[in-house]
Amino acid sequence: MESGKQLTGTLALAVFTAALGSLQYGYSLGVINAPQKVIENYYGRTLGVWSERAAVLSENSTEEEEYPEAGRHPAVIMYWSLSVAIFSIGGMLSSFLVGCVGDLRGRVKGMLMVNVLAVAAGLLMGLCKMWKPHIMVISGRAVMGFYCGLTSGLVPMYIGEIAPKAYRGALGTLHQLAIVIGILVSQVLGLDFILGNDAMWPLMLGLSGAPALLQSLLLPLCPESPRYLYIVQGKEQEARKSLLRLKGEYDPTPDLEEMRREKEEADKEPRVSIISLIRSSVYRQQLVVALMMHLSQQFSGINAIFYYSTAIFTRAGVGQPVYATIGVGVINTIFTMVSVALVDKAGRRTLTLVGLGGMCCCAIGMTVGLKLQGDYPWMSYVSMSAIFLFVSFFEIGPGPIPWFIVAELFSQGPRPAAIALAGCCNWTSNFIIGMTFPYIQTWLDSYVFILFAGLLFGFTVFIYLRVPETKGKSFEEIAAVFQKGRKKLEQGTKDATELQELKTSTDA
Ligand code: GLC
Repeated sequence: MESGKQLTGTLALAVFTAALGSLQYGYSLGVINAPQKVIENYYGRTLGVWSERAAVLSENSTEEEEYPEAGRHPAVIMYWSLSVAIFSIGGMLSSFLVGCVGDLRGRVKGMLMVNVLAVAAGLLMGLCKMWKPHIMVISGRAVMGFYCGLTSGLVPMYIGEIAPKAYRGALGTLHQLAIVIGILVSQVLGLDFILGNDAMWPLMLGLSGAPALLQSLLLPLCPESPRYLYIVQGKEQEARKSLLRLKGEYDPTPDLEEMRREKEEADKEPRVSIISLIRSSVYRQQLVVALMMHLSQQFSGINAIFYYSTAIFTRAGVGQPVYATIGVGVINTIFTMVSVALVDKAGRRTLTLVGLGGMCCCAIGMTVGLKLQGDYPWMSYVSMSAIFLFVSFFEIGPGPIPWFIVAELFSQGPRPAAIALAGCCNWTSNFIIGMTFPYIQTWLDSYVFILFAGLLFGFTVFIYLRVPETKGKSFEEIAAVFQKGRKKLEQGTKDATELQELKTSTDA
């Protein structure tokens, strides 16, 4: 094997440690679904708002018994909705800060610092029965969302910067793999006979802070990103040491040379802030591609399945919707592994196109299944298979790739600002889908997935026309692809202006 290309133990440790942050993000995404009824009932009891019938029930019941009326009280609905939604609001706000946190003391120290938030959030939720549980859970979810907004940017940034070119895709996809494993673990722990019951649900929510403890122990063993050390801090010797730790015995000169050129470029411009990134025409094309990749991930409708799968399966006539939901989690994990294996061979562009195109067909399949299920009972199998395939296609490309492609599309200078913007776009669109899907479903009924099919078709066309392949290219080469595109565009505008001037002068 070519030297500097091997996967060393230190690299594996660094990627594993970083991905613990992603695991936590996935767990927090999924944890709130299964125990909804149990938590609502608990809120109802502690708020003292359950109806008389439930009060009578409560007198004659054990602690574990459910209070069927509690969830319908307006106060409970409000506190529950807030417990769910505040997580995304936390993420939207903090994703803007990813650049500052990553650049302040480095990627590794950044991840270490923000773990304080995860542990605090876990404690707030885990100990929520000690004080007003609804307030404790809402605060915990807000802090956890804030943490996840940071980690969902810091992890891909760190992995993207330390991964050897040949494995950048596979290692980048591990961020998503850890997310989906986190979702699956939360789905399984959420079963009522495990932790999704009246006695154990605070522990279940509190556990979301656990990976942060392990990560904090391991982070001091991980080398800092050599790109951060050299390009941001100008510490060449330290960058060399870090490269040797990550890649084993090899000649780091070409890597250092590439960083030196990037540093030269970066030093020519002032620090790229979020505002200057939005304004700059230099990075416009990359930015549009990065944001569209994240929009396509969220507006594909994937979280409509994840947040409302139980309801969707019930509608599609599935007998055991909770287990079908866990089935979705399993398929989700398996196909992310397929993507890890394929992404550096097939390429980002191909996998995204196949994924989005496939999801578009599945969305049509789901619509046909839902529409005709009244006439033909076997149609429920069509809907169910379409849902499973939809998730599989998502994980092949549109799920994992947006997370790491942003780090690939931008050079060191604008990278933190770009990751922050893309992250914010992801969190905001996730929030919009989460909040609006129930209304859209009521409005469009069986045709709800046609809306996503239309969006998916549009995104597929965009990716086909505008997204270049980044597989196996250095950051410099990728930047050059966009520069060439821009020059062509500018040349086109110049030519058009000259033509216009020529025309005006001849007309005169
Ligand atoms: C991606 C998305 C996230 C979604 C998950 C499902 O990580 O960003 O919103 O829930 O995939 O696997």
